[in-house]
Amino acid sequence: MVIDENTEILNMLAKVLFCIGHSATVFSNPADALEELTLNENYDAVITDCFLDIKSMTFAGIDLIESLLDIKKLPVLVWSMYVDRLIPHIHDKEHVTFLKKPEENLSYIFTWLDKIKKIENEQFDTYPIYQLIYSSKEIDGFTENDLMDILISSRKHNKTAGISGALIYHNKCFLQVLEGEQVAVENRYYEWIEKDKRHFEVTLLTKGIVNKRIFLNWDMGFFGSHDGEDYVLLGLTDFNKHPAGQFFRDKLTHSQKELLSIQ
Ligand SMILES: Cc1cc2nc3c(=O)[nH]c(=O)nc-3n(C[C@H](O)[C@H](O)[C@H](O)COP(=O)(O)O)c2cc1C
Repeated sequence: MVIDENTEILNMLAKVLFCIGHSATVFSNPADALEELTLNENYDAVITDCFLDIKSMTFAGIDLIESLLDIKKLPVLVWSMYVDRLIPHIHDKEHVTFLKKPEENLSYIFTWLDKIKKIENEQFDTYPIYQLIYSSKEIDGFTENDLMDILISSRKHNKTAGISGALIYHNKCFLQVLEGEQVAVENRYYEWIEKDKRHFEVTLLTKGIVNKRIFLNWDMGFFGSHDGEDYVLLGLTDFNKHPAGQFFRDKLTHSQKELLSIQ
């Protein structure tokens, strides 16, 4: 859940979070957010502004944060320009993390969320984990909307099928790792992905049983790079620094990397 007065920030953050594998519901009104949290169990964490009332220089956010913690002891990230002034007023610091806007960048939020999900997801699979990696190329005329459609259906189907993984969109090519129960992964790949007309030269790079899931945190993490496009925002998670980038670099052979223009 993301709560912020500024709808531009809300929408930007929701989009960025979506692209890296988190589904955020956004609220600009704290009262609505609190009501939703009371009614709905499906939240893992809250990111909120501190709602400073400029006229009276008081933080409406203090009550908000206390109420959030009263309803559920979810991890709360307070992301605000005024965190320094807010910190002394917050009693329950165990569940609250403070991040100053705008000096610290979004990658801090990603790491914070990853840590939370890691704890949550530490349930154990009862079957061996099968991992499959392939590469492919986008067709001519492939658009950002196509990419969003792929991400949306991937998230939906993969979650149901217990598949985790990452999709990298780099230099007009895709690299995808799928991990889960063998039948589920092979079915997704051979019945759907390989036949999808939005990409071609679909090439299986590796497949087999592995020790554990690598992309536990993401139902389908995504990393994109494409100059001049909106999702270059995600350049924040540079291929060279991104966990998925490192993973693929370790896994691929020299010639596969050359093919995909990855150093
Ligand atoms: C590069 C690429 C990666 C994809 N990855 C997945 C995936 O991981 N899971 C999935 O269900 N569909 C994936 N798809 C989409 C499927 O091929 C197919 O369109 C989709 O599963 C159909 O479901 P829908 O009718 O609900 O969209 C991918 C497609 C492309 C082009």
